[in-house]
Amino acid sequence: MTFPFARISELGRHAGQTVTVRGWVTHLRSSGKVAFVVLRDGSGQLQGVVVKNGVSPETWEAFGRLTHETSAALTGEVREDARAPGGFELGIQEIAIIGASPLDYPIQPKEHGVDFLLDRRHFWLRSPRQVAILRVRHEIEQAVHDFFYERDFVRADTPILTAAIGERAGLFSTEYFDEGTAYLAQTGQLYGEALAASLGRIYTFGPTFRAEKSKTRRHLTEFWMIEPEMAWYDQNDNMDLQEEFVRYLVTRVLERRQAELKVLERDVSKLACVQEPFVRLDYGDAVKLCQAKGSDIQWGEDLGAPDEALIVAEYERPVFVVNYPKEAKAFYMKENPADPRTVLCADLLAPEGRGEIIGGSQREDDYDKLLHRLREEGLPEEAYDWYLDLRRYGTFVHSGFGLGLERTVAWICGVEHIRECIPFPRLMDRLKP
Ligand code: 4AD
Ligand code: MG
Repeated sequence: MTFPFARISELGRHAGQTVTVRGWVTHLRSSGKVAFVVLRDGSGQLQGVVVKNGVSPETWEAFGRLTHETSAALTGEVREDARAPGGFELGIQEIAIIGASPLDYPIQPKEHGVDFLLDRRHFWLRSPRQVAILRVRHEIEQAVHDFFYERDFVRADTPILTAAIGERAGLFSTEYFDEGTAYLAQTGQLYGEALAASLGRIYTFGPTFRAEKSKTRRHLTEFWMIEPEMAWYDQNDNMDLQEEFVRYLVTRVLERRQAELKVLERDVSKLACVQEPFVRLDYGDAVKLCQAKGSDIQWGEDLGAPDEALIVAEYERPVFVVNYPKEAKAFYMKENPADPRTVLCADLLAPEGRGEIIGGSQREDDYDKLLHRLREEGLPEEAYDWYLDLRRYGTFVHSGFGLGLERTVAWICGVEHIRECIPFPRLMDRLKP
């Protein structure tokens, strides 16, 4: 006889019925007369019970062949059981082994080193902690789309192969037919600006690449970035939107991913306080604050991770550091009319030492100033002719920002290192699996 297949998360609909559940074995236990198997199918965990006297000899024998990570189809009656994980238990009648798993499955219930686990990332992803992180990541991704859809932003995709360099970080490059060198996009922003003059308010959501020789817990060589770009927004409008956006993402995870936050042992009180407004700390004041706390940072330098930690220690909520010196930031940021040594920009620093999660700015809309900055930075003008055109034909006040997805996931999940916040991390020394 065949019975309907059910996913573990849907067993509530099948109470009292006989169904088949397919998945992977995570735990086994037997007293000789009664045996228990826990199965995981990605949607949840289910405990199945096999009673020796209540099943065929074949079923009892099949239980004996189950091992950790064997894939199997278990058929039995769905019984409500308040003590069971998920609230249901399966009274097993039949066990079909689909794929055996040898006893040397590399990940055992003991402490493993991170390099060992990263080498076996394809298996590590099966563990409850990794599943919880990736489900939170998914929730944030969906919330990003919902946030912008509700506000009538258009999602517009930008190229990954490009001739125009966006940021100062390292570049990956490849030969591109007869056109010379192509770079893997560090940002979609420059194209986002062209699209903002077409569609008004847009966002991009794509992979970005940086050949950064930094082995820190915040850097990947491939990461995902959300980059909104808004016509007629000045830098204050830009920061208002960022506050609303960040609060929206955090609230959404708190509302819908409590079970995952529990698996991660996240202190959710640290998230509940994330409400507008966020402090907007002037760069000059930030430098003074760091110096008073013992840092040797000088005016003009970008803030390092230790400086950022000194700043966020003062606040419970994320904090903006605004209006950095020109020389510390990218060429496209708008000169600050109140202090032309600086630009109209902000980095948003996350609490609990997670570092910068957003970089954003008002864009330089003056043709001559932009050209001057391009030259100062020694960038190839011919690659930016189209970008300069945006200032020649109907220039406009506009602003935007980039939120790093993995850093945001790390902060919300309370995970130390962003390598756990993307399914297959790309690090300086890691291209496999
Ligand atoms: O500050 P960044 O470099 O800004 C830009 O790329 C702008 N074009 C954004 C814009 O205005 N449209 O990067 C933005 C964010 C950082 O705040 C950080 O969260 C993340 O991207 N990020 C990284 N995440 C992981 N690994 C790296 N190597 C990252 N570099 C930046
Ligand atoms: Mg930045």
